[in-house]
Amino acid sequence: MSEEHRFEEEDFSGALTGRVVLRIIAQVKPYYLRVIGFILAIALVSFLDSYFTFLSKRIIDEGIAAKNFTALRQILIQYGALILVQAAAVFIFIYFAGILGEKVQYDLRKKLFNHLQRLSLSYYNVTPVGWIMSRVTSDSERVASLVTWRFLDFVWAALNIITATYFMIRINWRLGLIVVAIIPVLIIVAGQFKKKIIIEFRQVRKINSKITGSINENITGVRVIKAFSREKQNMLEFGNLTDQMYDAGFRAAWLSALFLPVVMIISAFALGSVIWFGGLQAQIGGMTIGGIQAFISYINFMIWPIQDLARVYAELQRSIASAERIFSLLDTNPDIYNLPEAISPQSLAGNISFEQVCFYYEEDEEVVLDDFSLEVSRGETIALVGPTGGGKSTIVNLLCRFFEPREGRIRINGTDYTKYTLESIQSKIGIVLQTPHLFSGTIEENIRYGKLDAAREEIIKAAKLAGAHEFIKTLDHGYQEDVGEGGNLLSVGQKQLVSLARAVLRKPDVFIMDEATSSVDTITEALIQRGMENLMENRTSFIIAHRLSTIKKADRILFIKDGEIAESGSHRELLKKKGLYYRLYTQQFRKDMALNLSSSSLLSTDS
Ligand SMILES: Nc1ncnc2c1ncn2[C@@H]1O[C@H](COP(=O)(O)OP(=O)(O)O)[C@@H](O)[C@H]1O
Ligand SMILES: [Mg+2]
Repeated sequence: MSEEHRFEEEDFSGALTGRVVLRIIAQVKPYYLRVIGFILAIALVSFLDSYFTFLSKRIIDEGIAAKNFTALRQILIQYGALILVQAAAVFIFIYFAGILGEKVQYDLRKKLFNHLQRLSLSYYNVTPVGWIMSRVTSDSERVASLVTWRFLDFVWAALNIITATYFMIRINWRLGLIVVAIIPVLIIVAGQFKKKIIIEFRQVRKINSKITGSINENITGVRVIKAFSREKQNMLEFGNLTDQMYDAGFRAAWLSALFLPVVMIISAFALGSVIWFGGLQAQIGGMTIGGIQAFISYINFMIWPIQDLARVYAELQRSIASAERIFSLLDTNPDIYNLPEAISPQSLAGNISFEQVCFYYEEDEEVVLDDFSLEVSRGETIALVGPTGGGKSTIVNLLCRFFEPREGRIRINGTDYTKYTLESIQSKIGIVLQTPHLFSGTIEENIRYGKLDAAREEIIKAAKLAGAHEFIKTLDHGYQEDVGEGGNLLSVGQKQLVSLARAVLRKPDVFIMDEATSSVDTITEALIQRGMENLMENRTSFIIAHRLSTIKKADRILFIKDGEIAESGSHRELLKKKGLYYRLYTQQFRKDMALNLSSSSLLSTDS
């Protein structure tokens, strides 16, 4: 699918465009004083490095060679004092860079997190979770290192070349110019290598992300893989990927290995000419031994950053690509947002109507609801039944405004619900999902999610009403029991009871439940049933029902098929009709009814 392509790492070029650079600068702007301090500190360190070499020259020429010990002592004192200054500067730039990096990373993560909360469900529908996670974790880290260490690499290299050039020309301008002339040659050679090495490394990364994806898929799908005995096939495919990665990695390693010797040969040429030319000059007195020695150091000063250029450039490109990805996420606008004039009603209790609603999840995907209309009066209980994929969940998704109708409208209390704020709608709807989601933490915390300021008594009351109290009591730590990541220490039925309690606590105006089809033991099922009934009382409720007992109690049953209400009426009416519902009932519910009877007698509830 073309959609997956959007999330390829390589779609973000990492080209150093003005737009991206400006936005990155904007990230750092609040901390501009630190940035200035940071640059000044590096400049000082770099200048002093060059200056020390110059001082070494003077030590040799003016002190040792001239046997002038007063001069020697003076220069050494100066040297020592400046070492202290340099040490302080090193401390400052590392410290500032560290803080700056942390701040930028923190800001980016916060921005991303806030933005992710604002994005509509439709975004998550098409965006792999792993992609989002990498933006928040590794990409923001890389942007932080871009504005600190990557930036440092460049400032450092540039300053080293400038200060070394300055001192070389000061010592001997002719020889200085010869050395400076070699710099472009070095840069061109380094640039050529850089290009090739980057291409290979990019290949490595591309395959690497495929491998990660494959590992991910294999881990999450391990049960299916085992069930279908696909281990061998998957191993083969995986082996293929690792082979490709090895080849590209091998070429990259070869080029990297070759690069350094080539640079060394060129620099040897530069050194050779210095010694040769310097030696000649020394004979006629234009150059001292200390001067030649200093030149040799300065050449190393300039070569070191240049030979590092390939790495620095590749890392720079990667960091820029990270920044681009982060910005692309931040630039995504939520599809669903509050209108400027949106209001927050006190209550959503009232009639609900779908008016000629047309809906599809994605452009170019099939239309799920077409010209769908439905009137529900206040307090009514609606059961939605019908085949999988018929559109039941879609209807409740729309009602919760997780998605909005593409055409037509939904009215609550006579008002188009897009005129209400999202928060007011979503805070007044209690929803229990098919696969209930709990957050890591205790049971109490998870129930409290329904109403953050609830007292403990309220929570226990809600749990009792939802029918969750019984099982919670039996846990070692009761309400303080840890539910594990995603609640996975609890069974599906228990999770559902906890989310029911959460919904009860919220005292919603509208209650929605996407009933689980998964097999819950009969006692839990009866508990859930009773909890639901408590919640549905006096509330407009939409229940996607699989249990006969729920369906029978509903005021109205809607048989949803292909996005349409194929049949509608009470249990009795629909049975009489001998249509779709009747067939469903006779095929599916007989078994269910037997189960229901036994569980009812178990708990001696009426049914
Ligand atoms: N999040 C989604 N993104 C894209 N398509 C979806 C999504 N959820 C459901 N669909 C599609 O919408 C149709 C109706 O699905 P759904 O409302 O889940 O039906 P039901 O709940 O009755 O089983 C199906 O064709 C399904 O593939
Ligand atoms: Mg569904």
